[in-house]
Amino acid sequence: MHIERVTKKTEEWVVQLWDREWGGSTMISRGTAYRLDQLKARIAIIDGNPVGLVTWHMKESEAEIISLNALIERQGIGTALLQAAEENILAARKQKVVLVTSNDNLLALAFYQKCGYRLTEVLVGSIDAAREKKPGIPAIADNGIGIHDELVLVKHL
Ligand SMILES: CC(C)(COP(=O)(O)OP(=O)(O)OC[C@H]1O[C@@H](n2cnc3c(N)ncnc32)[C@H](O)[C@@H]1OP(=O)(O)O)[C@@H](O)C(=O)NCCC(=O)NCCS
Repeated sequence: MHIERVTKKTEEWVVQLWDREWGGSTMISRGTAYRLDQLKARIAIIDGNPVGLVTWHMKESEAEIISLNALIERQGIGTALLQAAEENILAARKQKVVLVTSNDNLLALAFYQKCGYRLTEVLVGSIDAAREKKPGIPAIADNGIGIHDELVLVKHL
């Protein structure tokens, strides 16, 4: 596996992944809408095929991971992508990484904590509010848990 920038060859794949996994080219995080084309991104490649994507947004004093997807799970793709983003963030002299996941996403919660992130906040009802702007956000996850709240996690690099 290797990690690379998004190129002309892979940009369509990236747009399709966001459409499929995140319901379009916009993601709402803590009340702010992020457009895919405004974000930094890295893609994971195995045998010439894209298998994962991380996107992040650089802010004044910190960075926020906006999305992370590994199409084949438990093969180290998520860890490799997150590390690549963190290296870039550190190279840009930001030492704090923030990310948000939803209350139903128990696997992501385990994964991020294993990667050194700590829970700092629960934004109760924030996804219910985001759903009013982006009605495509599902109400119930595949695991049957109602989707309501954002969990904020932070890592100091
Ligand atoms: C969350 C996600 C990015 C993890 O990526 P991944 O490539 O499967 O993770 P890794 O293989 O690097 O796993 C690293 C560790 O995280 C934990 N982990 C990952 N998937 C897990 C699972 N399904 N159950 C429990 N722990 C898990 C494990 O501790 C794992 O280490 P181990 O395999 O040595 O035990 C991936 O499952 C995914 O794309 N999920 C769907 C999208 C999503 O929810 N993204 C995050 C919210 S933005």
